[in-house]
Amino acid sequence: MITNDSIETDIIKPTTTTEEVLFEATLRPQKLAEYVGQEKIKENLKILIDAAKARKETLEHLLFYGPPGLGKTTLAHIISRETGSNIKVTSGPAIEKAGDLASLLTNLTENDVLFIDEIHRLNKTVEEILYPAMEDYALDIVLGKGAGAKAVRLDLPKFTLIGATTRIGLLSAPLRDRFGMTYRLDYYEEPEIEAILKRTAKILGIQIDDQGKIEIAKRSRRTPRIANRLLKRVRDFAQVKARGKIDRQVADEALSMLEVDELGLDNNDRRILEALIDKFGGGPVGISSLAAATSEDMGTIEDIYEPYLLRLGLLARTPKGRVATPAAYDHLKKTPKTTAQTLL
Ligand SMILES: Nc1ncnc2c1ncn2[C@@H]1O[C@H](COP(=O)(O)OP(=O)(O)O)[C@@H](O)[C@H]1O
Ligand SMILES: [Mg+2]
Repeated sequence: MITNDSIETDIIKPTTTTEEVLFEATLRPQKLAEYVGQEKIKENLKILIDAAKARKETLEHLLFYGPPGLGKTTLAHIISRETGSNIKVTSGPAIEKAGDLASLLTNLTENDVLFIDEIHRLNKTVEEILYPAMEDYALDIVLGKGAGAKAVRLDLPKFTLIGATTRIGLLSAPLRDRFGMTYRLDYYEEPEIEAILKRTAKILGIQIDDQGKIEIAKRSRRTPRIANRLLKRVRDFAQVKARGKIDRQVADEALSMLEVDELGLDNNDRRILEALIDKFGGGPVGISSLAAATSEDMGTIEDIYEPYLLRLGLLARTPKGRVATPAAYDHLKKTPKTTAQTLL
């Protein structure tokens, strides 16, 4: 039995290590046609790209939002490739000062894609530089100080801003309004995850049969990043225990050892649900109390754990706070002690 929390933790959390970044880059589809699922978004993007190409125009600004690991960064790279343009990659927290953004913008060339990940974390002064840049391809700068100060407007090359965020609600209205299109990425269907696993197994030369793929897909939170991570872990297990071949039983044993259950929940998810049930009588409880009780960061719960628990119907949001549903009691084999559930 594995009790080290960090082993489960990094299955769900966003990419942090260099090794993982490289691993993901090798697996990233290069073309829209290789990108599995999200059919409506792909169809829509294809039309936008073809139309912009036919008119020889710069693609409009695009915003992608949805839980981590669903393919937002991948889409940004695909778009730059499909339009034959360069991509410059940065993120909200990396742009600290207005000057940082100004220098990024003035270094762009015509039709470049500027990708800003975690765009909800841009600070206000930086964000205000972005408005005229997006709207008019212009950079407003102030020269000098005090009474002699002069506002100057510089022209920027026509570029495409692609923003990605896990928290659309934290984006200011003026920023949201400046995107031509906004796309919400949703969790994948299980057969789509199976197709992604098939592709990954082929690229990495992993032997896995259909039942093995089905088992991993079922437990992957319908998220490509997690499916790929689990496949990698199961491969290690199979190498040691099953001469490298993955079938249903090998996948099941490996995932049980990692304490990923049949719904794809890990220790952290279960800890959150257990706290909600055992410490707060099933709720309703505010997210900050739940975070304190589980020693988790509030943003991490909201961004990473909660969306999938909501999606599975194990957790519900009410005006008074989070509530564990009857399905959560069932899944954790707990009996309700209070009447909290009857609020649902
Ligand atoms: N639709 C997809 N088809 C195939 N692989 C995908 C797809 N979406 C995501 N992936 C893979 O999952 C990993 C995470 O995707 P990424 O674009 O970084 O997610 P996000 O930016 O939304 O957090 C990448 O390695 C990527 O190759
Ligand atoms: Mg990303």
